[in-house]
Amino acid sequence: MALTSRLAVIAGGIGGIGCATGKALRSQGAALALLYAPFEAQKVKATISEVYGGAKSINSYECDITSPNSVSSAFAAIAKHNVAFPSILVNAAGYVSLNALEESPPDEILSHYMINLFGPTLTGQAFARMFMRAKQEAKADSVPGGRIVNIASQAAHVALHHHGAYCASKAGLVGLTKCMASEWGPKGITANSVSPGPVWTELGKKAWADRKAREAYQAAVPTGNFAEPGEVARIVLFLCQDQALNINGTDITLDGGYTVR
Ligand SMILES: NC(=O)c1ccc[n+]([C@@H]2O[C@H](COP(=O)([O-])OP(=O)(O)OC[C@H]3O[C@@H](n4cnc5c(N)ncnc54)[C@H](OP(=O)(O)O)[C@@H]3O)[C@@H](O)[C@H]2O)c1
Repeated sequence: MALTSRLAVIAGGIGGIGCATGKALRSQGAALALLYAPFEAQKVKATISEVYGGAKSINSYECDITSPNSVSSAFAAIAKHNVAFPSILVNAAGYVSLNALEESPPDEILSHYMINLFGPTLTGQAFARMFMRAKQEAKADSVPGGRIVNIASQAAHVALHHHGAYCASKAGLVGLTKCMASEWGPKGITANSVSPGPVWTELGKKAWADRKAREAYQAAVPTGNFAEPGEVARIVLFLCQDQALNINGTDITLDGGYTVR
């Protein structure tokens, strides 16, 4: 299996895309460290049991990705458990709420920037430090390459109605990904982003709850479809494998062609 002996850390690990990604990475032998927010604690056990059949090898860590202390503690715990070589980080936590741009409350704007941009910055830093330390300690030429995959959005590339703060946060995440790729590529870590159109998860349902808006959107997409979480997960899985060695700093859109029109 392509990812045997590798540990994948997934922020947003019990969310819709996070679960699909965890299953895909695990199917290729990766050990998992799922990060969940403190306010999700009650759903962790049931979600892991439902998605992974209660497998004992799935480790989960409480981590509010917007808090530097919480991120440090979670990554320290992951390093201490030392389950497998920490070679993959997937940033799949996220936040959306729709507001007219001129009326967006400051705390709502800040939630987008904190969860969708500041959070992946902190987890990226913590992961990069953990990877570099583990590589140094392993002293082997054969350590696996590092992989960061940030789940951005088509909203990084196009204005979506009433998605102002979300669009800005995701455009920032694509920019951050390029800098991760540039600075950490020479240190053995590639970084890429995936930009899906709407996916029918809890977050997707929140953004596209309005039936008329949803139908108008679907009529405008060349394929006419929302994406499935598994589609996103398959791209993440490909980017995490050795064969994707030279894909670095790019963004893969998965939007049914919406942004080409
Ligand atoms: N679904 C879509 O249409 C779509 C399209 C394009 C891009 N994306 C992106 O894909 C990623 C995954 O989203 P999803 O669709 O899988 O949504 P989801 O099922 O709602 O998962 C997002 C997860 O992030 C968690 N989270 C929120 N705040 C957090 C924090 N401070 N610290 C740690 N975790 C936190 C959420 O917890 P709670 O559920 O408790 O809030 C949830 O488990 C997000 O970055 C999203 O922006 C989604």
